[in-house]
Amino acid sequence: MSRATLRPSGPLRGVCTVSGDKSITQRLILLGALARGSTRIVGGNEGADARAALGIVKALGVTVRSQGNARIVQGGALRESDRVLDAKNSGTALRLSMGLLAAQPFFSVLTGDASLRRRPLHRVIEPLRVLGADLAARDQDRLAPVAIRGQRLRGASVRTPVASAQVKSALLLAAIQAHGDSSIEEPGPTRDHTERLLPRFGAPVTAENGRILVRGPASLEGIEARVPGDFSAAAFLWAAAAIVPRSDVTVRAVGVNPTRRAFLDLLARAGAQVEEIDPRDESGEPVADVRVRAGALAPIRIDAEDARGMIDELPLAAVLAAFAKGESVIRGAEELRVKESDRIATVAAGLRAIGVECEERPDGWLIQGTGAPRGGSVVSEGDHRIAMAFLVAGLRAKDGVRVEGVEAAAVSDPGFLPRLKGLLR
Ligand code: S3P
Repeated sequence: MSRATLRPSGPLRGVCTVSGDKSITQRLILLGALARGSTRIVGGNEGADARAALGIVKALGVTVRSQGNARIVQGGALRESDRVLDAKNSGTALRLSMGLLAAQPFFSVLTGDASLRRRPLHRVIEPLRVLGADLAARDQDRLAPVAIRGQRLRGASVRTPVASAQVKSALLLAAIQAHGDSSIEEPGPTRDHTERLLPRFGAPVTAENGRILVRGPASLEGIEARVPGDFSAAAFLWAAAAIVPRSDVTVRAVGVNPTRRAFLDLLARAGAQVEEIDPRDESGEPVADVRVRAGALAPIRIDAEDARGMIDELPLAAVLAAFAKGESVIRGAEELRVKESDRIATVAAGLRAIGVECEERPDGWLIQGTGAPRGGSVVSEGDHRIAMAFLVAGLRAKDGVRVEGVEAAAVSDPGFLPRLKGLLR
């Protein structure tokens, strides 16, 4: 396990880019594997999760070539693997692959690392069965490894048991291969990258009154796509800019999809200066250059609806709250219990370790921000977002913050630390 310490330092200033969006990259890899012809992914994410998705499709007989900053996926002819497919730390790779493979005419087994093998799969298995999928998993269909006997699926109306983009996307990947029409409904809105991409691959997928309609089976054709900068990677840089006085950071060409951008709105509400420059479209996704300048931070309030729109930024929002003077309340975050770590518990432990009073609730935290935490040593628990959130805290905590297990950051953003340090003036 490696460690890194960040200490209070000068402002962060400058213009930078971040790695490609992890969610979109993984979708492009899996859809590219299914589609006939080549899919060219430009500026995709190079973290361990995206590489896990590549490993899965390669094991299924797909060839992938690198060309500059592009990867070319040659899809359309998946075949049975004689190996167990390993999604490593990636919930997205595992769950979306389940939908993809449920309709393929062969047998597959998927697993992941120790963290992923603790995360729930029943939420995916149960709705996939409505389409006729045949899956079985450990612990009464709750946990990976999961075995899939590919079937001819039939279209159906399905409501997902939880608001989860991974569950919805697994269903979409199955439904586009099923025979007949499907409709998919979720209890609340989640990131919509899959719905945006599918029509570009030629799949008849439309959204109507909160329902997604799919006409199956669809035949997909490869595409060329430029991946927007990852909002969730940029969020750490913006948070750093918001808490370190006199900072002024612009992240160029970053995705600002309405289902993902709630953290930016939170930063503005809390008192940072946020400016979106040159909003435009990139491969069907809204992108902009986003400038954040430090401001005096007010305590924050996050309810269940806000929480859904910043699901991956909630640990960072909790860290931000430590730098606002007063009581912050974050609710509706119970999904964090089943992420790469139990993020409600790891964040509460981390905040206490840096001298911040924090009450852990079943669905969030009550945080007593002082504006200037003491600092200390935090354990990442192998969770990339925990590692990065607390490194950011080190830039403004009196004694700095040491993060044990900092290598976890490479799951989504191998370039995180050099990029952050490169902005310090
Ligand atoms: C993701 C969806 C979210 C998110 C994860 C990536 C995706 O998970 O937390 O980091 O790519 O679809 P859930 O769908 O489980 O909420």
